[in-house]
Amino acid sequence: MNPALTATAAATAREALDAGRVRADFPCFARWRAAGDTLVYLDNAATTQKPQAVLDAVTEVYAGGAGNIHRGVHRLSQRATEAYEGARETVRCFLGADSADDIVFVRGATEGINLVARSFLAPRLTAGDEVVVSRMEHHANIVPWQMVCEERGARLRVIPMGPEGDLDLDALEDLLGDRTRLVAVTQVSNALGTVNPIGEIVTACRRRGVPILVDGAQAVVHGPVDVATLGCDFYVFSGHKVYGPSGVGALYARREHLESMPPYQGGGDMIRSVSFEHTDFAPPPQRFEAGTPNIEGAVGLAAALDYLSGLGLERVAAHEAGVLDHAVRRLSTLPGVHLVGTPKERAGVVSFVLDGVHPHDVGTILDARGVAVRAGHHCAQPVMDFFGLPATTRASFAVYSTVEEADALVDAVAEVQEIFA
Ligand code: ALA
Repeated sequence: MNPALTATAAATAREALDAGRVRADFPCFARWRAAGDTLVYLDNAATTQKPQAVLDAVTEVYAGGAGNIHRGVHRLSQRATEAYEGARETVRCFLGADSADDIVFVRGATEGINLVARSFLAPRLTAGDEVVVSRMEHHANIVPWQMVCEERGARLRVIPMGPEGDLDLDALEDLLGDRTRLVAVTQVSNALGTVNPIGEIVTACRRRGVPILVDGAQAVVHGPVDVATLGCDFYVFSGHKVYGPSGVGALYARREHLESMPPYQGGGDMIRSVSFEHTDFAPPPQRFEAGTPNIEGAVGLAAALDYLSGLGLERVAAHEAGVLDHAVRRLSTLPGVHLVGTPKERAGVVSFVLDGVHPHDVGTILDARGVAVRAGHHCAQPVMDFFGLPATTRASFAVYSTVEEADALVDAVAEVQEIFA
């Protein structure tokens, strides 16, 4: 575990999270209430609301005077550089990485995965090689690998999943072979909420010397992560799913990988020197950050991570588990409601279908009752195919979610059933 988080957790573990106080940190709730409207926001796996601390941090980047990073001698440039590189250090600390140089700012988890697919995997992949993903991946952790595999004549292989929505880890052992060039697995499923035993998966890969990328997009927001302890080769997450801005995220990679990887894109700020004959590239992480980056995004992301760490991730996890368990328990008691996936361990998400009602109708009627959920395939069509469903209704919870909101969800679902009875 990240030492900073350990200290926070130790200090706060005994106190339960006060969701009312947390909600007050998120101005959108007061705004909807002032407008006389209800906002039961249960689409947090799609994107999270933003606390005032993040809004202030982003505003301050501009209110204090915009500057570009790494290239000016004037104060505004230096201020921007300090804020941006300070944000990198915050991400390093949050993930428990050894060095800020192992953190690359990207547009989000999707770009992080594409970067690894193009710069790490593609040069190492030849016809007949294999890349392993799991049955429960988001499209972002399938399509980039599939594209590279198709170009190189390599094969995408899939860790199967059982009917509860847990991965079959015995099958993973069988899939790992001499031709496996990379494994890419999500830590938490965005469609089912399954928490994968990521430590075991990483250990299995490392035993065989196979690099592993962990998609942490749905994980970092729900509990502490420590990449050094985990031992993964790559870890990606997105800012907007962790109370930060959209258009920014981070890739952690082991130093030896980053140093061996060619640039992902060319442009300014990723070079040492350029002539028409030759370009010398900057060392990582600058080598992978061509052009002016999302400075305010990185600063806002750091503010979000500081905010979450300040609450204490262990405490956040305990609070969310209580609300989610309540929702799962009550939904399970409604006749005609079927949970999709009943994994051993679950975080943040419950997916379900109702007899005789399309998930889009469920979502629309819930919205009319003030409850925002996602209905659809959740960018995880192979998961839907596995369960023989076109779509599910998905409720996803966050640090500001309450038991009362879980009740509002269940009551609204029961009303949908009455309408269609
Ligand atoms: N990946 C996001 C979701 O699960 C968009 O809803």
